[in-house]
Parts: sequence; C-alpha cells; structure tokens
Amino acid sequence: MRVWAVANQKGGVGKTTTSIALAGLLAEAGKRVVVVDLDPHGSMTSYFGHNPDALEHSCYDLFLNKGQVPQGLPGQLLLPTSDDKIALLPSSTALATLERQSPGQSGLGLVIAKTLAQLWQDFDYAIIDSPPLLGVLMVNALAASQQLVIPVQTEYLAVKGLERMVGTLAMINRSRKQPLPFSIVPTLFDRRTQASMGTLRVLKDAYPEHIWQGYIPVDTRLRDASSKGQTPSQFDAKSRGVVAYRHLLKHLLAQQLVAQQVA
Ligand SMILES: Nc1ncnc2c1ncn2[C@@H]1O[C@H](COP(=O)(O)OP(=O)(O)O)[C@@H](O)[C@H]1O
Ligand SMILES: [Mg+2]
Repeated sequence: MRVWAVANQKGGVGKTTTSIALAGLLAEAGKRVVVVDLDPHGSMTSYFGHNPDALEHSCYDLFLNKGQVPQGLPGQLLLPTSDDKIALLPSSTALATLERQSPGQSGLGLVIAKTLAQLWQDFDYAIIDSPPLLGVLMVNALAASQQLVIPVQTEYLAVKGLERMVGTLAMINRSRKQPLPFSIVPTLFDRRTQASMGTLRVLKDAYPEHIWQGYIPVDTRLRDASSKGQTPSQFDAKSRGVVAYRHLLKHLLAQQLVAQQVA
C-alpha cells in the first residue's frame, strides 16, 4: 500500500475535491483505494452519501483504545462509495473532540498508521483527507503517510496558510526517519484574475522544488460531481478539472518512484 495525505491548515482550498479526484483516477486505473476522512466536518463522508452526524461507527472508534487498534476493527468500519474499488473510512462529528488534543501527551499519534497497517494487503492506495487544524488528527495523517499533497488556492491570503503548513511539516519531520516528500498543488485557478496569476508566480518563486508545474482550474463540473456523489472522473471524464487531475496524478506517481529509490 502507498499512503498519501492531502492537507492544508486552511479550509476551502480543495483538499476534499483533490482527495476524491485522485482516488477516482487511481480506481479507474484498476487500483483498490481506501479513502480516510479525518476531517470532523465529514465533507468526504457526506460526498459519498453517508451522514457524519448520524453514523454510529467511524474513525472516532479507532481512537478509543489508548492508541492501540483492535484487530479487525478497521475492516469493520469501511463503507461503500460510488465506486466499488473505493472504500471509505468515514468521519463523524465525534472526531471534533479529538481535533484539538495535543498529540504528544495523548499517545494517539500513530492510530491511523496502525489502522492502515491492518489494511495493507487489501488496498493499493490510501488517501487521507485531513482536517484544517493542527492537532491529533493532522499529526496522525502526516505520521501515516509517505507523500503529502498540499492544495493551495490561488489567492493572496493562501500563501500565509501554506507557510503555516510548511512549518507544521518541519515540526513533524523532526520525529520521522526521513522527511515527508510534499507537492504543492495550485487549485481553483482562474487565469483571468490577477490574484490567480500573481499567486501562482509567488508560489513558484517561493517553493521551486516543491510546486507542481500545473494547476487545477476552476471547473464547475467538479462541483456538479459532488452533488451527484460521484468521483469527478465517473461524472465527466473529459472535464477540464479531471484532465488537470490526471496530470497531477502522473506527477505524484513519478514523485513516488523517486522517493522509493531514495528510501
Ligand atoms: N477546481 C475547482 N473548481 C470549482 N470548484 C471547486 C474546485 N475545487 C473545489 N471546488 C469547490 O470548492 C468548495 C471547497 O472545496 P473542498 O474540496 O471541499 O475544499 P476543502 O476540503 O479544502 O475545504 C467545494 O464546494 C468544492 O466543490
Ligand atoms: Mg474538506
């Protein structure tokens, strides 16, 4: 299994859309994918037609055993999605009680890593949709993953949020054997606006080694896909957004090869 986290300490930047678009494209390529919704808002869970306010069992259950994960529990929590190659580990609103806990003291930092270890043979990829706050859940997402995708909305304020996320990553890296490779993904790009063009330039200057050279355009078909509960490529395989996500996936797979060679 390969594990990717999608994170940014800012909401509305395209984390959930990116997680689902990439999962859909991996499934289309024949991969078995588990998507993990670690955001207490449960957008990914809702996307696939499950109600995070009503679910009796969710990722929250994984955190109730002093950092240990009971054998078999992860498999029991999986829910179906619009694609039979994608399974969902759902969020529920109860997760919010964990979000702000300090990970150092709780001993709960590796719960998701242990969870995925149990699912290692059943899936080719895990994609973790992360919450916008630095707490136990974000730490779990980063600790479990081998590669990080940071979607950044192409508008001026977004650069500040990215700086914060990169700072968080530096902190997490101190307790990892190897630094976590990351790719910055410009999202919601509108070439007609100064803000989009200007921000893209700033990002490329500030993070030349980490920025993906493409961008995800504003594409209402992505929003339409979410209203139907389908992955973007199921909904409209030829839309501009999906075409851009295909390029991104290719880039991430190439990055992964580099990371494997170094490891
Ligand atoms: N490239 C895009 N074009 C148009 N709408 C988008 C795009 N990416 C995301 N959206 C929409 O923007 C909103 C926020 O995106 P979302 O992926 O939920 O962000 P996050 O998970 O970071 O909060 C959603 O309504 C989503 O459908
Ligand atoms: Mg989200």
